Amino acid sequence: MSGTVSVQIQVNGVPHADQVEPRLLLVHYLRDVVGLTGTNVGCDTSSCGACTVLLDGESVKSCTLLAVQADGCSVTTIEGLACGEELHPVQQAFQEEHGLQCGFCTPGMVLAAVSLLCETPEPTEEDVRRGLEGNLCRCTGYHNIVRAVLRAAKEQP
Ligand code: FES
Ligand code: FES
Repeated sequence: MSGTVSVQIQVNGVPHADQVEPRLLLVHYLRDVVGLTGTNVGCDTSSCGACTVLLDGESVKSCTLLAVQADGCSVTTIEGLACGEELHPVQQAFQEEHGLQCGFCTPGMVLAAVSLLCETPEPTEEDVRRGLEGNLCRCTGYHNIVRAVLRAAKEQP
């Protein structure tokens, strides 16, 4: 197709090869091309973190990247965290600590927390608050979110 670029992106372990417009944002690629709508778009100013995914294991705001910038990379979205019926430990901790209300911020929050715990496996409360400061919860459920991340850290194998 003229005016498009081919990309090969592994999403949640599944290889995808697509033709995309060069200006297509990664979040729209994930939602509209791959069909994974768990990644939300909450702002157009790169400030809310609702669109957070992992790119080669690092958390990124997928509304700040073009799909072509993820060419050759591996992306993990919220749909790729659970193992079958078994929730990822961070998802489990969010459930147990009531770390979500409307759930809009939750996919991004969980992926930001997964990345935080990879970098800092034994975080203090302050580390968690600082690590998640790029993710906003419009329900203001921060207290339980922080408790969930601390619980996930404690329960990590
Ligand atoms: S939608 Fe990406 S930061 Fe808000
Ligand atoms: S739970 Fe509603 S925005 Fe965070």
